[in-house]
Amino acid sequence: MLDFHRADLARLAARDRLRGLAPQRGRDFASNDYLGLASHPRLAAAIADAVAEGIPVGSGGSRLLRGNHPEHEALEAEAAAFFGAEASLYFSSGYTANATLLATLPQRGDLIVHDALVHASMHEGMKLSRAASVAAAHNDPAAFEDAIRAWRAQGGKGTVWIAVESLYSMDGDTAPLAELMAVAERHDAMLIVDEAHATGVFGERGQGLATPGERVVTLHTCGKALGCEGALVAGPAIVRDYLVNRGRGFIFSTAPSPLMARGVREALRILAEEPERRTALHRRIALASERLAPHGALANGTPIMPLILHDNGRTMRAAEALQARGFDIRGIRPPTVPVGAARLRLSITLNVGEADILALDQALHEVLA
Ligand SMILES: Cc1ncc(COP(=O)(O)O)c(C=O)c1O
Repeated sequence: MLDFHRADLARLAARDRLRGLAPQRGRDFASNDYLGLASHPRLAAAIADAVAEGIPVGSGGSRLLRGNHPEHEALEAEAAAFFGAEASLYFSSGYTANATLLATLPQRGDLIVHDALVHASMHEGMKLSRAASVAAAHNDPAAFEDAIRAWRAQGGKGTVWIAVESLYSMDGDTAPLAELMAVAERHDAMLIVDEAHATGVFGERGQGLATPGERVVTLHTCGKALGCEGALVAGPAIVRDYLVNRGRGFIFSTAPSPLMARGVREALRILAEEPERRTALHRRIALASERLAPHGALANGTPIMPLILHDNGRTMRAAEALQARGFDIRGIRPPTVPVGAARLRLSITLNVGEADILALDQALHEVLA
């Protein structure tokens, strides 16, 4: 039994691609808890208050059945206002939200043009979608436009859906959203923007990088800078209504915990009320850029700084050597990144101080020598 699976794992091991689960250990250069909100006392207090008020741990069912709780609805109303959208919808994870968006909104006869580097969850949705899909070269608006023109020239008549991330999770660069929006306007297309890593980090209130509008749908994961769990889709009211009626990942799934919804509500308040966290994060990013770029880390003014070492084995050995020195730094290998592009993903958060960044600079001198 399970011979295929044993052999498959052996093949992964032979290519230095076998994974295992490792505990958190050492200084945090690995998480997406960019603002350190996961352990913020205000979040813990908000959830403790909700427990004391008798808000249940579990939702008890799908939102369409008995699982709909006033906490979900309150969160969605506040999130719509926060992100400047007409409406929003809370999902239990960003993965489910992305997969549901891409599987549900584009219809048969439509075209999805996606950036070559979008997250696996968008690919999942595209596999389920009845629309055709095509990749465009990373962050190249002209490539998006060419793909749309080629499809129209071949008789494509439906709606075009452009799907991108605003801040790329493994490369740390940001999308040319204004140019992509101009492409969307020229071709009467919709723009789906995964703001997973930009939410909380960019924007006046931490709302992300996209500009809301009638042709824009954004996805804000709550497990990264918001320090919680789940994801909010924000956009036109019709998108929310459609997902509630047709989004299988929303309909056929137990609603997230109402306690977590309360936590996300508090996280949005913290973003608005404590802008100094964002300022501190950007100061730390500036220091990290100055100290880590000379080692080859790519610095784009964002908290994600990949240090590409190419070879899987070398990457994992470097990660282990840094872990042994007390840094929680993880190697990222294919298929998460393209073959030959294995990397250390250095993530800058408020969970580390300036001294930790200086210590990492020193450790990289030793490990990469
Ligand atoms: C760009 C991007 N989108 C979506 C997700 C999925 O979000 P979640 O972790 O909430 O499932 C992730 C990472 O986890 C991500 O990096």
